[in-house]
Amino acid sequence: MLTARIAVVASGGGTNLQALIDAQGRGELKSGSIALVIADKAGIGAIQRSEKAGIPCAVIVRREPAFEEKVLAALMEYQIDLVVLAGFLGILSGDLLRRFGKPVINIHPALIPSFCGKGFYGLRVHQAALDYGVKVTGATVHYASEIVDGGQIIAQKAVDVLPGDTPEILQRRVMEQAEWVLLPQAVETVSAQIVKEKENAL
Ligand code: GAR
Repeated sequence: MLTARIAVVASGGGTNLQALIDAQGRGELKSGSIALVIADKAGIGAIQRSEKAGIPCAVIVRREPAFEEKVLAALMEYQIDLVVLAGFLGILSGDLLRRFGKPVINIHPALIPSFCGKGFYGLRVHQAALDYGVKVTGATVHYASEIVDGGQIIAQKAVDVLPGDTPEILQRRVMEQAEWVLLPQAVETVSAQIVKEKENAL
C-alpha cells in the first residue's frame, strides 16, 4: 500500500513528535509513515524519542551555515512527501518551501490569527494570551507559507483559559487537549490526500 513519507522537524522536547509516533503505533496514521526526524539542535528530547522509536534522526543545527540546504538534502535523500513542523521554533524561508515543492504543515499553540507571527513561539504565545486576558485559546494546524503562521488553516481546537493559569499550566492544557489530538489527525488527513494524488499519478 502507498503511504506518504513524513519528515518531522523539532526544536525541543518533542512531545508533538511523540504524539505522532504514538498515533502511528496505534495504527491511526494509516496513510503516512514517519521516515525521518530532523532535530535542529544537539541534545534535545526529540532525538531520544526518535531513537527509541527506531526512526532515523538527522541533527541539522539551525544556527549553523547552510541549514536550509542541509534540510533540503535530507528531505531529498529520504524521499519525503510531507514535512511536519512539530515544535519547530525557527522559520523556513519561502525559497526552501518553493524548492521542496511539497506540503509543509505546522502546529501553532494558539487560535490563529491570535497570538501568532514572528516572535510568537513556545511559552511566549501562552504568556501573550494570558496578558491579553482571553478566556479561550487553543491550537492550529496550518500549511506553512512565506508568511509566518499565515498559510491556509487545516484544523483548530479551542481550549479554556482558567483562573490561576501560568504560561506553563496553559501550555500543558493546550498540548493535552488540543495539540496532541489535532496534529496526528491533521497529518493523517494530509497524508491521505498525498496518497490519493500518488495513486492518481500511477
Ligand atoms: C508546542 O507547544 C508547539 O505548538 C510550539 O512549541 C511547542 C513545542 O513542544 N510551537 C511553536 O510555538 C511554533 N511557533 P514539543 O517540542 O514538546 O512538541
